[in-house]
Amino acid sequence: MNKRLLGAAALVLASLIFNPAWAQEGPEVDRTATGGAQTLEDIMRRQEQQKLDDSFRSENLGNPEKAAPITEQLGTRGGVSDADTWRAIRYNQIDPTVQSPGPANGVMIQDGGISWYKLREGPIITWGGGALLGIIVLLVVFYFVRGKIMIDGGPAGTTIERFKAIDRFGHWLLAGSFIALGVTGLLTLMGRSFLIPVIGLDAFSTLAVGSKWLHNNIAWAFMLGLVMTFVMWVAHNIPDKLDWQWIKAGGGIFTKGHPSARKFNAGQKVVFWTVMLLGVSVSLSGLSLLFPFQMPLFGDTFGVINSILGTGLPTELTPHEEMQYANIWHSIVAFVMMLAIIAHIYIGTVGMEGAFDAMGSGQVDLEWARQHHDLWVEEEEAKQGKGGSS
Ligand code: HEM
Repeated sequence: MNKRLLGAAALVLASLIFNPAWAQEGPEVDRTATGGAQTLEDIMRRQEQQKLDDSFRSENLGNPEKAAPITEQLGTRGGVSDADTWRAIRYNQIDPTVQSPGPANGVMIQDGGISWYKLREGPIITWGGGALLGIIVLLVVFYFVRGKIMIDGGPAGTTIERFKAIDRFGHWLLAGSFIALGVTGLLTLMGRSFLIPVIGLDAFSTLAVGSKWLHNNIAWAFMLGLVMTFVMWVAHNIPDKLDWQWIKAGGGIFTKGHPSARKFNAGQKVVFWTVMLLGVSVSLSGLSLLFPFQMPLFGDTFGVINSILGTGLPTELTPHEEMQYANIWHSIVAFVMMLAIIAHIYIGTVGMEGAFDAMGSGQVDLEWARQHHDLWVEEEEAKQGKGGSS
Protein backbone atom coordinates (compact mmCIF):
# COMPACT_ATOMS: atom_id res chain seq x y z
CA MET A 1 0.00 0.00 0.00
CA ASN A 2 1.09 3.50 -0.79
CA LYS A 3 2.89 5.09 2.19
CA ARG A 4 0.90 8.36 1.85
CA LEU A 5 -2.42 6.51 1.94
CA LEU A 6 -1.31 4.62 5.04
CA GLY A 7 -0.36 7.90 6.73
CA ALA A 8 -3.73 9.47 5.93
CA ALA A 9 -5.59 6.44 7.31
CA ALA A 10 -3.57 6.60 10.53
CA LEU A 11 -4.37 10.30 10.82
CA VAL A 12 -8.14 9.69 10.45
CA LEU A 13 -7.99 6.90 13.04
CA ALA A 14 -6.07 9.05 15.51
CA SER A 15 -8.48 11.94 15.07
CA LEU A 16 -11.42 9.61 15.78
CA ILE A 17 -9.77 8.30 18.94
CA PHE A 18 -8.51 11.59 20.29
CA ASN A 19 -11.38 13.76 19.11
CA PRO A 20 -14.56 11.65 19.67
CA ALA A 21 -18.03 12.83 18.71
CA TRP A 22 -18.95 13.95 22.22
CA ALA A 23 -16.01 16.31 22.36
CA GLN A 24 -16.73 17.84 18.99
CA GLU A 25 -18.45 21.14 18.56
CA GLY A 26 -21.30 20.29 16.18
CA PRO A 27 -22.10 22.40 13.17
CA GLU A 28 -22.69 26.11 13.48
CA VAL A 29 -26.12 26.81 15.02
CA ASP A 30 -28.47 29.12 13.20
CA ARG A 31 -29.88 31.51 15.81
CA THR A 32 -31.76 33.78 13.46
CA ALA A 33 -35.15 32.22 14.32
CA THR A 34 -34.65 32.82 18.02
CA GLY A 35 -33.22 36.27 17.62
CA GLY A 36 -29.79 35.09 18.73
CA ALA A 37 -31.02 33.29 21.88
CA GLN A 38 -30.78 29.64 22.90
CA THR A 39 -32.10 27.11 20.39
CA LEU A 40 -33.44 23.61 20.61
CA GLU A 41 -30.17 22.37 19.07
CA ASP A 42 -28.30 23.97 21.97
CA ILE A 43 -30.42 22.03 24.45
CA MET A 44 -30.08 18.75 22.57
CA ARG A 45 -26.35 19.19 22.28
CA ARG A 46 -26.04 19.90 25.99
CA GLN A 47 -28.06 16.76 26.77
CA GLU A 48 -25.75 14.69 24.58
CA GLN A 49 -22.86 16.17 26.52
CA GLN A 50 -21.39 17.76 23.42
CA LYS A 51 -19.28 20.84 23.71
CA LEU A 52 -21.26 24.01 23.28
CA ASP A 53 -20.16 27.50 22.43
CA ASP A 54 -22.51 29.34 24.78
CA SER A 55 -20.83 32.72 24.61
CA PHE A 56 -24.12 33.98 23.16
CA ARG A 57 -25.65 33.54 26.62
CA SER A 58 -23.43 36.09 28.32
CA GLU A 59 -23.77 38.39 25.33
CA ASN A 60 -27.57 38.22 25.54
CA LEU A 61 -27.91 38.22 29.32
CA GLY A 62 -30.48 40.69 30.59
CA ASN A 63 -31.37 41.88 27.12
CA PRO A 64 -35.10 41.36 26.52
CA GLU A 65 -34.58 42.25 22.87
CA LYS A 66 -32.66 39.02 22.54
CA ALA A 67 -35.37 36.85 24.08
CA ALA A 68 -36.95 34.33 21.71
CA PRO A 69 -40.24 35.64 20.36
CA ILE A 70 -43.36 34.03 21.80
CA THR A 71 -44.13 32.46 18.42
CA GLU A 72 -40.90 30.43 18.57
CA GLN A 73 -40.15 27.07 20.15
CA LEU A 74 -38.33 28.45 23.14
CA GLY A 75 -40.19 31.71 23.59
CA THR A 76 -40.36 33.89 25.50
CA ARG A 77 -37.53 34.03 27.99
CA GLY A 78 -34.75 32.67 25.75
CA GLY A 79 -32.28 35.49 26.22
CA VAL A 80 -33.20 36.53 29.72
CA SER A 81 -32.82 34.56 32.92
CA ASP A 82 -34.07 36.04 36.14
CA ALA A 83 -32.91 33.77 38.95
CA ASP A 84 -35.08 35.49 41.58
CA THR A 85 -38.23 34.90 39.56
CA TRP A 86 -37.41 31.25 39.02
CA ARG A 87 -36.56 30.82 42.69
CA ALA A 88 -39.90 32.37 43.67
CA ILE A 89 -41.69 29.96 41.33
CA ARG A 90 -39.65 27.04 42.61
CA TYR A 91 -40.51 27.78 46.27
CA ASN A 92 -44.10 28.67 45.52
CA GLN A 93 -43.68 32.28 46.65
CA ILE A 94 -45.65 33.78 43.80
CA ASP A 95 -49.31 33.61 43.02
CA PRO A 96 -49.38 33.21 39.25
CA THR A 97 -52.41 33.94 37.12
CA VAL A 98 -53.18 31.04 34.81
CA GLN A 99 -55.53 30.92 31.87
CA SER A 100 -57.18 27.57 32.63
CA PRO A 101 -58.45 27.54 36.20
CA GLY A 102 -57.99 24.39 38.29
CA PRO A 103 -56.64 23.58 41.73
CA ALA A 104 -53.17 22.54 40.56
CA ASN A 105 -52.72 24.69 37.45
CA GLY A 106 -51.08 27.59 39.27
CA VAL A 107 -48.20 25.40 40.48
CA MET A 108 -45.40 25.80 37.96
CA ILE A 109 -42.55 23.94 39.64
CA GLN A 110 -43.15 21.30 42.29
CA ASP A 111 -40.05 19.76 43.78
CA GLY A 112 -41.77 17.52 46.39
CA GLY A 113 -42.06 14.92 43.63
CA ILE A 114 -38.45 13.89 44.10
CA SER A 115 -38.75 13.05 47.81
CA TRP A 116 -42.10 11.35 47.15
CA TYR A 117 -40.57 9.25 44.38
CA LYS A 118 -37.56 8.28 46.49
CA LEU A 119 -39.76 7.31 49.45
CA ARG A 120 -42.05 5.27 47.23
CA GLU A 121 -39.33 3.48 45.29
CA GLY A 122 -37.14 3.00 48.38
CA PRO A 123 -38.43 2.46 51.93
CA ILE A 124 -42.08 1.81 50.96
CA ILE A 125 -41.14 -1.04 48.63
CA THR A 126 -38.34 -2.38 50.85
CA TRP A 127 -40.12 -2.22 54.20
CA GLY A 128 -43.57 -3.04 52.87
CA GLY A 129 -42.38 -5.96 50.76
CA GLY A 130 -40.05 -7.14 53.55
CA ALA A 131 -42.90 -7.10 56.09
CA LEU A 132 -45.11 -9.19 53.79
CA LEU A 133 -42.37 -11.79 53.37
CA GLY A 134 -41.67 -11.58 57.13
CA ILE A 135 -45.25 -12.38 58.16
CA ILE A 136 -45.38 -15.31 55.75
CA VAL A 137 -42.15 -16.74 57.24
CA LEU A 138 -43.51 -16.17 60.79
CA LEU A 139 -46.72 -18.02 59.96
CA VAL A 140 -44.81 -20.94 58.46
CA VAL A 141 -42.69 -21.11 61.66
CA PHE A 142 -45.86 -20.81 63.77
CA TYR A 143 -47.44 -23.66 61.81
CA PHE A 144 -44.47 -25.93 62.51
CA VAL A 145 -44.22 -24.94 66.20
CA ARG A 146 -47.92 -24.98 67.10
CA GLY A 147 -49.39 -27.10 64.32
CA LYS A 148 -52.97 -26.88 63.14
CA ILE A 149 -55.42 -26.01 65.92
CA MET A 150 -57.64 -29.10 66.00
CA ILE A 151 -61.09 -29.68 67.47
CA ASP A 152 -60.32 -31.35 70.85
CA GLY A 153 -61.87 -34.82 70.85
CA GLY A 154 -62.80 -34.50 67.16
CA PRO A 155 -65.87 -33.04 65.45
CA ALA A 156 -69.37 -33.64 66.84
CA GLY A 157 -70.76 -34.43 63.42
CA THR A 158 -73.73 -32.08 63.92
CA THR A 159 -73.63 -28.45 62.82
CA ILE A 160 -74.92 -25.04 63.81
CA GLU A 161 -75.51 -22.09 61.47
CA ARG A 162 -72.79 -19.49 62.01
CA PHE A 163 -73.20 -17.10 59.09
CA LYS A 164 -76.24 -16.56 56.86
CA ALA A 165 -75.90 -16.19 53.07
CA ILE A 166 -75.97 -12.39 53.31
CA ASP A 167 -73.11 -12.44 55.88
CA ARG A 168 -71.05 -14.66 53.60
CA PHE A 169 -71.85 -12.53 50.57
CA GLY A 170 -70.66 -9.42 52.45
CA HIS A 171 -67.52 -11.22 53.62
CA TRP A 172 -66.55 -12.53 50.20
CA LEU A 173 -67.31 -9.22 48.53
CA LEU A 174 -64.94 -7.58 51.00
CA ALA A 175 -62.37 -10.38 50.86
CA GLY A 176 -62.40 -10.91 47.08
CA SER A 177 -62.12 -7.21 46.35
CA PHE A 178 -59.38 -6.75 48.97
CA ILE A 179 -57.27 -9.55 47.51
CA ALA A 180 -57.72 -8.17 43.97
CA LEU A 181 -56.84 -4.66 45.20
CA GLY A 182 -53.80 -6.03 47.04
CA VAL A 183 -52.47 -7.84 43.97
CA THR A 184 -53.11 -4.97 41.52
CA GLY A 185 -51.81 -2.43 44.03
CA LEU A 186 -48.57 -4.37 44.51
CA LEU A 187 -48.22 -4.65 40.72
CA THR A 188 -48.56 -0.88 40.41
CA LEU A 189 -46.08 -0.22 43.20
CA MET A 190 -43.47 -2.87 42.54
CA GLY A 191 -44.01 -4.05 38.97
CA ARG A 192 -41.58 -1.54 37.48
CA SER A 193 -38.74 -2.80 39.65
CA PHE A 194 -39.47 -6.53 39.61
CA LEU A 195 -41.48 -7.38 36.50
CA ILE A 196 -39.96 -5.27 33.72
CA PRO A 197 -36.65 -7.18 33.93
CA VAL A 198 -38.56 -10.49 33.70
CA ILE A 199 -41.43 -9.93 31.23
CA GLY A 200 -40.17 -6.87 29.39
CA LEU A 201 -41.47 -3.33 29.02
CA ASP A 202 -44.29 -3.94 26.52
CA ALA A 203 -45.89 -6.82 28.40
CA PHE A 204 -45.57 -4.92 31.66
CA SER A 205 -47.10 -1.82 30.15
CA THR A 206 -50.25 -3.76 29.13
CA LEU A 207 -50.36 -5.43 32.53
CA ALA A 208 -49.93 -2.15 34.39
CA VAL A 209 -52.70 -0.38 32.46
CA GLY A 210 -55.11 -3.30 33.06
CA SER A 211 -54.09 -3.58 36.67
CA LYS A 212 -54.65 0.11 37.31
CA TRP A 213 -58.07 -0.04 35.66
CA LEU A 214 -59.06 -3.01 37.83
CA HIS A 215 -57.70 -1.35 40.96
CA ASN A 216 -59.68 1.85 40.37
CA ASN A 217 -62.93 0.02 39.71
CA ILE A 218 -62.79 -2.84 42.21
CA ALA A 219 -62.34 -0.22 44.94
CA TRP A 220 -66.13 0.38 44.86
CA ALA A 221 -66.84 -3.29 45.65
CA PHE A 222 -64.43 -3.09 48.59
CA MET A 223 -66.17 -0.02 49.99
CA LEU A 224 -69.57 -1.70 49.63
CA GLY A 225 -68.26 -4.85 51.36
CA LEU A 226 -66.83 -2.69 54.13
CA VAL A 227 -70.15 -0.95 54.78
CA MET A 228 -72.09 -4.25 54.63
CA THR A 229 -69.87 -6.12 57.06
CA PHE A 230 -69.69 -3.13 59.39
CA VAL A 231 -73.47 -2.85 59.60
CA MET A 232 -73.96 -6.63 60.01
CA TRP A 233 -71.22 -7.31 62.57
CA VAL A 234 -70.51 -4.17 64.56
CA ALA A 235 -72.92 -5.12 67.36
CA HIS A 236 -70.91 -8.34 67.96
CA ASN A 237 -67.60 -6.50 68.01
CA ILE A 238 -68.06 -4.01 70.84
CA PRO A 239 -65.16 -4.67 73.25
CA ASP A 240 -66.18 -5.99 76.69
CA LYS A 241 -64.66 -7.46 79.87
CA LEU A 242 -64.67 -10.96 78.42
CA ASP A 243 -62.15 -9.87 75.81
CA TRP A 244 -59.65 -9.10 78.54
CA GLN A 245 -60.02 -12.66 79.93
CA TRP A 246 -59.52 -14.02 76.42
CA ILE A 247 -56.38 -11.93 75.90
CA LYS A 248 -54.96 -12.94 79.31
CA ALA A 249 -55.45 -16.59 78.35
CA GLY A 250 -53.56 -15.88 75.09
CA GLY A 251 -56.65 -17.01 73.17
CA GLY A 252 -55.85 -20.55 74.36
CA ILE A 253 -53.34 -20.87 71.55
CA PHE A 254 -50.57 -22.42 73.62
CA THR A 255 -52.65 -23.75 76.53
CA LYS A 256 -55.11 -26.56 77.05
CA GLY A 257 -58.74 -25.52 77.04
CA HIS A 258 -60.36 -22.52 75.35
CA PRO A 259 -61.23 -19.16 76.92
CA SER A 260 -64.92 -18.22 76.73
CA ALA A 261 -66.19 -16.10 73.86
CA ARG A 262 -69.42 -14.89 72.33
CA LYS A 263 -69.88 -14.63 68.53
CA PHE A 264 -66.47 -12.96 68.03
CA ASN A 265 -63.50 -13.40 70.37
CA ALA A 266 -61.00 -10.62 71.19
CA GLY A 267 -58.64 -11.70 68.37
CA GLN A 268 -61.45 -11.46 65.85
CA LYS A 269 -62.51 -8.09 67.24
CA VAL A 270 -58.97 -6.85 66.60
CA VAL A 271 -59.26 -8.09 63.00
CA PHE A 272 -62.70 -6.49 62.65
CA TRP A 273 -61.63 -3.04 63.91
CA THR A 274 -58.34 -3.17 61.98
CA VAL A 275 -60.26 -3.89 58.79
CA MET A 276 -62.89 -1.23 59.50
CA LEU A 277 -60.67 1.65 60.62
CA LEU A 278 -57.85 1.07 58.17
CA GLY A 279 -60.43 0.19 55.50
CA VAL A 280 -62.01 3.64 55.87
CA SER A 281 -58.60 5.29 55.81
CA VAL A 282 -57.40 3.39 52.73
CA SER A 283 -60.72 4.16 51.02
CA LEU A 284 -60.56 7.90 51.75
CA SER A 285 -56.94 8.22 50.62
CA GLY A 286 -57.83 6.11 47.56
CA LEU A 287 -60.75 8.41 46.68
CA SER A 288 -58.43 11.37 47.05
CA LEU A 289 -56.11 9.72 44.50
CA LEU A 290 -58.97 8.73 42.21
CA PHE A 291 -60.19 12.33 41.97
CA PRO A 292 -56.90 14.24 41.77
CA PHE A 293 -56.82 17.60 43.58
CA GLN A 294 -60.56 17.43 44.35
CA MET A 295 -60.35 15.86 47.81
CA PRO A 296 -57.37 17.28 49.68
CA LEU A 297 -57.27 15.57 53.08
CA PHE A 298 -53.87 16.01 54.66
CA GLY A 299 -53.54 19.75 55.32
CA ASP A 300 -56.73 19.68 57.41
CA THR A 301 -55.84 16.36 59.09
CA PHE A 302 -52.42 17.72 60.04
CA GLY A 303 -54.15 20.81 61.47
CA VAL A 304 -56.30 18.60 63.72
CA ILE A 305 -53.26 16.52 64.79
CA ASN A 306 -51.33 19.73 65.55
CA SER A 307 -54.11 21.08 67.72
CA ILE A 308 -54.38 17.81 69.68
CA LEU A 309 -50.71 16.85 69.99
CA GLY A 310 -49.07 20.26 69.64
CA THR A 311 -47.00 18.99 66.71
CA GLY A 312 -45.81 21.22 63.89
CA LEU A 313 -47.00 19.28 60.85
CA PRO A 314 -47.37 21.38 57.68
CA THR A 315 -50.94 22.54 57.12
CA GLU A 316 -50.40 24.64 53.98
CA LEU A 317 -49.86 21.96 51.37
CA THR A 318 -49.73 22.46 47.63
CA PRO A 319 -52.20 20.36 45.61
CA HIS A 320 -49.37 18.06 44.50
CA GLU A 321 -48.10 17.60 48.05
CA GLU A 322 -51.61 16.58 49.06
CA MET A 323 -51.53 13.88 46.38
CA GLN A 324 -48.07 12.73 47.44
CA TYR A 325 -49.17 12.35 51.08
CA ALA A 326 -52.33 10.54 49.96
CA ASN A 327 -50.29 8.13 47.88
CA ILE A 328 -47.73 7.32 50.60
CA TRP A 329 -50.41 6.98 53.29
CA HIS A 330 -52.52 4.77 51.00
CA SER A 331 -49.57 2.36 50.57
CA ILE A 332 -48.64 2.28 54.27
CA VAL A 333 -52.21 1.58 55.41
CA ALA A 334 -52.66 -1.04 52.69
CA PHE A 335 -49.49 -2.84 53.82
CA VAL A 336 -50.61 -2.90 57.48
CA MET A 337 -53.98 -4.30 56.37
CA MET A 338 -52.32 -6.93 54.21
CA LEU A 339 -50.22 -8.07 57.17
CA ALA A 340 -53.31 -8.47 59.38
CA ILE A 341 -55.26 -10.18 56.59
CA ILE A 342 -52.51 -12.68 55.77
CA ALA A 343 -52.63 -13.81 59.42
CA HIS A 344 -56.44 -13.87 59.21
CA ILE A 345 -56.41 -16.02 56.07
CA TYR A 346 -53.93 -18.39 57.72
CA ILE A 347 -56.21 -18.98 60.73
CA GLY A 348 -59.31 -19.26 58.51
CA THR A 349 -57.72 -21.96 56.32
CA VAL A 350 -54.68 -24.10 57.24
CA GLY A 351 -54.35 -22.79 60.81
CA MET A 352 -57.56 -24.09 62.38
CA GLU A 353 -59.64 -27.17 61.78
CA GLY A 354 -63.31 -26.37 61.06
CA ALA A 355 -62.92 -22.58 60.76
CA PHE A 356 -63.35 -22.22 56.99
CA ASP A 357 -66.84 -23.77 57.05
CA ALA A 358 -68.13 -20.65 58.82
CA MET A 359 -67.60 -18.65 55.61
CA GLY A 360 -67.86 -21.65 53.26
CA SER A 361 -71.23 -23.33 53.89
CA GLY A 362 -72.10 -21.12 56.85
CA GLN A 363 -72.57 -24.26 59.00
CA VAL A 364 -69.88 -25.08 61.59
CA ASP A 365 -69.36 -28.22 63.62
CA LEU A 366 -71.11 -27.93 66.97
CA GLU A 367 -68.03 -29.07 68.88
CA TRP A 368 -65.87 -26.47 67.11
CA ALA A 369 -68.45 -23.82 68.01
CA ARG A 370 -68.58 -24.94 71.67
CA GLN A 371 -64.79 -24.83 71.96
CA HIS A 372 -64.24 -21.42 70.33
CA HIS A 373 -67.53 -19.58 70.95
CA ASP A 374 -69.19 -21.33 73.92
CA LEU A 375 -71.32 -18.38 75.05
CA TRP A 376 -72.52 -17.72 71.51
CA VAL A 377 -73.67 -21.38 71.21
CA GLU A 378 -75.54 -21.01 74.53
CA GLU A 379 -77.22 -17.86 73.27
CA GLU A 380 -78.20 -19.51 69.98
CA GLU A 381 -79.53 -22.61 71.70
CA ALA A 382 -81.50 -20.49 74.15
CA LYS A 383 -83.01 -18.58 71.21
CA GLN A 384 -84.06 -21.80 69.53
CA GLY A 385 -85.30 -23.39 72.75
CA LYS A 386 -82.25 -25.72 73.18
CA GLY A 387 -81.04 -28.29 70.64
CA GLY A 388 -80.45 -25.70 67.95
CA SER A 389 -78.05 -27.98 66.11
CA SER A 390 -79.07 -29.66 62.91
C1 HEM B 1 -59.06 -16.46 51.45
C2 HEM B 1 -59.32 -15.45 52.21
C3 HEM B 1 -60.17 -15.47 53.47
C4 HEM B 1 -60.65 -16.51 54.21
C5 HEM B 1 -60.45 -17.99 53.96
C6 HEM B 1 -61.40 -15.96 55.28
C7 HEM B 1 -62.07 -16.69 56.24
C8 HEM B 1 -62.86 -16.16 57.24
C9 HEM B 1 -63.63 -16.92 58.17
C10 HEM B 1 -63.69 -18.45 58.21
C11 HEM B 1 -64.25 -16.06 59.00
C12 HEM B 1 -65.22 -16.41 60.13
C13 HEM B 1 -64.52 -16.76 61.39
C14 HEM B 1 -65.54 -17.21 62.40
O1 HEM B 1 -66.27 -18.15 62.16
O2 HEM B 1 -65.63 -16.60 63.46
C15 HEM B 1 -63.88 -14.73 58.60
C16 HEM B 1 -64.28 -13.57 59.21
C17 HEM B 1 -63.90 -12.31 58.83
N1 HEM B 1 -63.16 -11.98 57.72
FE1 HEM B 1 -62.28 -13.28 56.46
N2 HEM B 1 -61.35 -14.60 55.21
C18 HEM B 1 -60.61 -14.26 54.11
C19 HEM B 1 -60.29 -12.99 53.67
C20 HEM B 1 -60.70 -11.84 54.30
C21 HEM B 1 -60.36 -10.52 53.88
C22 HEM B 1 -59.44 -10.22 52.68
C23 HEM B 1 -60.93 -9.64 54.74
C24 HEM B 1 -60.89 -8.15 54.78
C25 HEM B 1 -60.24 -7.36 54.02
C26 HEM B 1 -61.64 -10.42 55.72
C27 HEM B 1 -62.35 -9.90 56.76
C28 HEM B 1 -63.01 -10.64 57.71
C29 HEM B 1 -63.65 -10.05 58.87
C30 HEM B 1 -63.69 -8.57 59.21
C31 HEM B 1 -64.20 -11.11 59.56
C32 HEM B 1 -64.96 -11.01 60.91
C33 HEM B 1 -63.96 -10.95 62.05
C34 HEM B 1 -63.19 -12.22 62.21
O3 HEM B 1 -63.78 -13.30 62.21
O4 HEM B 1 -61.96 -12.15 62.30
N3 HEM B 1 -61.48 -11.75 55.42
N4 HEM B 1 -63.04 -14.82 57.51
